[in-house]
Amino acid sequence: MPVKILMVCLGNICRSPLAEGIMASKLPKDKFFVDSAGTGSWHVGHCPDKRSIETAKKNGINISAQKGRQFKTSDFDEFDYIFVMDNSNYNDVIHLAKTPEQRAKVSLILNELFPDENVDVPDPYYGTANGFDNVYEMLDEVTDLIAEKLIQKHQ
Ligand code: 4NP
Repeated sequence: MPVKILMVCLGNICRSPLAEGIMASKLPKDKFFVDSAGTGSWHVGHCPDKRSIETAKKNGINISAQKGRQFKTSDFDEFDYIFVMDNSNYNDVIHLAKTPEQRAKVSLILNELFPDENVDVPDPYYGTANGFDNVYEMLDEVTDLIAEKLIQKHQ
């Protein structure tokens, strides 16, 4: 059984598709499965935002085949680790959790880099292209750490 990691943001078209693509590129596919979801339903079935697709492509990662989906309560059982992009996503997901085990799977992704600081990956949707590069850099840095930890823990 692969270790399953879920990346969560609001729309599942900007941040979490990047997080999914970057994380998957750093883990062996036979041992790990990475997916993403949004807490909102606006973009179910949609491709990632073209700015996210371009930013990933510039860095050698293809996320164009991803399709948006909404976070669902069965994800708590399906996944081993649930990384959320910002504090609002954290509150939304935690409110859906029913058990301490489910709550324990959820963490703010940048807390891996800055423990207990509760720093958001900022939503780049209404911003400039630069916002997407910024998000990419943050996710690239933190997924290096997460990949290292997970590979060590699950080898
Ligand atoms: P994301 O960005 O949560 O990083 O995918 C957003 C994309 C779309 C919307 C909100 C956030 N929206 O409201 O449509």
